[in-house]
Amino acid sequence: MTVSIADLLTERASDNFSLHEQHLNTQMVKVLRTIGYDRVYVKGKGQYLYDNENQQYLDLLSGFGVFALGRNHPAIISALTDVLQADLPDMVQMDASLLSGLLAEKIVTLCPTGIEKMFFCNSGAEAVEAAIKFSRYTTGRSKILHCEHAFHGLTLGALSLNGEEIFREGFGPLLPGCSAIPFNDLDALEKALSNRDVAAFIVEPIQGKGVNLPDDSYLPEVARLCAKYGTLFVADEIQTGIGRTGKFWAIDHWNVEPDMILMAKALSGGFIPVGAVAMKPLIMEKVFNRMDRAVVHGSTFSKNNMAMAAGLATISVIEEENLLENSARIGNELIAGIEALIDKHEFLKEVRGMGLMIAVEFGSPKSLSLKAAWKMLETANKGLFCQMVTIPLFKEHRILSQVAGHGMNVVKMLPPLMISEKDRDWVISAFDEVIGECHKVPGSIWDLGKTLAGHAIKAKKATR
Ligand SMILES: Cc1ncc(COP(=O)(O)O)c(C=O)c1O
Repeated sequence: MTVSIADLLTERASDNFSLHEQHLNTQMVKVLRTIGYDRVYVKGKGQYLYDNENQQYLDLLSGFGVFALGRNHPAIISALTDVLQADLPDMVQMDASLLSGLLAEKIVTLCPTGIEKMFFCNSGAEAVEAAIKFSRYTTGRSKILHCEHAFHGLTLGALSLNGEEIFREGFGPLLPGCSAIPFNDLDALEKALSNRDVAAFIVEPIQGKGVNLPDDSYLPEVARLCAKYGTLFVADEIQTGIGRTGKFWAIDHWNVEPDMILMAKALSGGFIPVGAVAMKPLIMEKVFNRMDRAVVHGSTFSKNNMAMAAGLATISVIEEENLLENSARIGNELIAGIEALIDKHEFLKEVRGMGLMIAVEFGSPKSLSLKAAWKMLETANKGLFCQMVTIPLFKEHRILSQVAGHGMNVVKMLPPLMISEKDRDWVISAFDEVIGECHKVPGSIWDLGKTLAGHAIKAKKATR
């Protein structure tokens, strides 16, 4: 008998954590239980998640930026249903499929002039791998330059461009010829490029780990220096692209023209994994330069019809529902609303971001009693304070958020692009209340802080 997914979903509804404990990532289950995130979600609609007790949650995590359109958008479902009902001949491989051509045509119209070619793959990391290979082949150079604190994915090539030791440790040796410079440092960039032996500089226009914004002159100068020294400028827009920052690409804020633009996440419509590289024709012509090299790079599932249809539908929803405008406006209002709390709360240091990619940064307070409590947490584990914010945001206010990276006191928001004014106010008042509670020492939040510090100290001892 054919498996009934509907039956499985009801019959096995309460087995999810035990299945993961037995067959998937046991440590992840431990983490979820420890921080009280062990909810059973049964429904997702737009910017909201619903658990098995019918509690509604506002999702500021968006599956790490996948759900720009929220979950289960009817236009994406309709596009995917069209594909399923059309009995299309998918992935013939020895053909030229229409939907991939149409998506390429559409994306190119949204790119800066000069970008005319597309390569499709299945994830962000795969787009990064393609960019590494394409830059090496095009320039005949092997070195790749990236930024400190960068995140470009976790496959071996992408990991070689990762700025955080915690991700790299024990997985080496990584790709030779990769090195890091500080983000937003043009002198370091020129120095690194000046030997004319770097194939590509891969950079996130706004760094995801920490939400680090560049100076206005940075990316235009990156473009100029890369052109001067014959290095390809690769903009990793896997997180920042497709409307996240209030423009279609983050590079549009600075009017720069990279040689390659990498995308993934939101292009999926929240359904079908996809990645892509948009590039100048010269790169495509160099890599695929002869008929016997027509399949020199690719992967089996790339260009599949479901992913291509989801991509086309995603872009059309962004245009029809004015999501760039919404992302820019609500993003600005969220930043202003939380920024206005800085005078009231000593721990709150800075709110920054663009569109709906927003960081809230905490730091050491002025008053002595709070300082001692802060120090206790920082000594146990740098960056622990912001878990004291994300956990009550979740448990008390049903807001799912994330810490912005290891070792930093930054809470990050990447909500769906259509969040409303009501959602904005929900977030601002929740932050106000939770941060206010953090200023009560002793208090229930600091009981949580002590527990977190205890776990951190235990974990440190275990790794010694
Ligand atoms: C900027 C950036 N590049 C690359 C990646 C890797 O994408 P994926 O997880 O789809 O491999 C990510 C994922 O978070 C990212 O944020």
